[in-house]
Amino acid sequence: MTKPYVYITRKLDETTLTPLKEVAHIDMWTSEDEPCPREELEKQAAQADGLLTMLSDQVDEALLSNAPNLKVVANLAVGYDNIDLKAAKKHGITVCHTPDVLTESTADLAFALLMASARRIVEASDWIKDGNWTGWGPLLLAGADVHHKTLGIVGMGSIGTALAKRAKGFDMNVLYHNRSRKPKAEAQLGVTYAAFDELLTQSDFIVCLTPLTPETKEMFNKKAFEQMKNTAYFINVSRGQTVDEDALYDAVTTGKIAGAGLDVFSREPVSPDHPLTTLPNVTVLPHIGSASVETRKNMMHLCAENIALVLQDQQAKTPVQA
Ligand code: DGY
Repeated sequence: MTKPYVYITRKLDETTLTPLKEVAHIDMWTSEDEPCPREELEKQAAQADGLLTMLSDQVDEALLSNAPNLKVVANLAVGYDNIDLKAAKKHGITVCHTPDVLTESTADLAFALLMASARRIVEASDWIKDGNWTGWGPLLLAGADVHHKTLGIVGMGSIGTALAKRAKGFDMNVLYHNRSRKPKAEAQLGVTYAAFDELLTQSDFIVCLTPLTPETKEMFNKKAFEQMKNTAYFINVSRGQTVDEDALYDAVTTGKIAGAGLDVFSREPVSPDHPLTTLPNVTVLPHIGSASVETRKNMMHLCAENIALVLQDQQAKTPVQA
């Protein structure tokens, strides 16, 4: 019997794919950093039994309706807003993602971005490298304290909870906003539920970790930025489209808020000419929330396991529960 065929849309570390290699023929796009062109993805989907996709691949009705053998799509991310779940269901395709394995690394990055934004770490480093350091000054590159401040977490899933733990180590007061209350986190971590408007007005740091859905699209808009303290920092480690970027630009350039730290953008890769990337009080990162070597390898391995299980008619380890 011929083995099923699985296409992987980036060049991944082969050692993480062992569970899949045992049960399928695999082929990969040739580059680690350049995306697989749409045309190639369509050609591959038309013959594949499984796809291992990136968050930058659009897995939509047009792709899935021309993929007669496709049984499983495993997305190398916890987020899956790039996948049309309705279309996948209609075509009987299992969609998998990578929760849990990336929780701690993404929380680390979120807290690092918060710290970097508050204490102007990237700005200060660039300042030295640009040859500006001629003397020490009492308020030279002075930023904002993080300890004992109020953190507002929007999206209290496992990454939000892991972020709250880090914040508690800095003696922060932690508010959270979420679709549902989290009694366990409230009891164990001493975090407090707040309505969205209340969280905006009370927090010194607001971290967006909510998934992108029709309800959360551009939830951080002009009205939201106007409610924040003018000393507040906005940090986004979720998806760029949760933010109205024009409104954010206006907020950080007119002093409505103090600054921002962005790991994600509406359009990625973001252009170096994008207005938000030109500001000293906006720290920008190229969507590296979960990007530690260990975690990325664990994510690859989990995708490989999920595809192998589905191709053997078994239950996937981490299917999307939509
Ligand atoms: C995810 O997994 O959805 C993250 O955005 C990747 O860093």
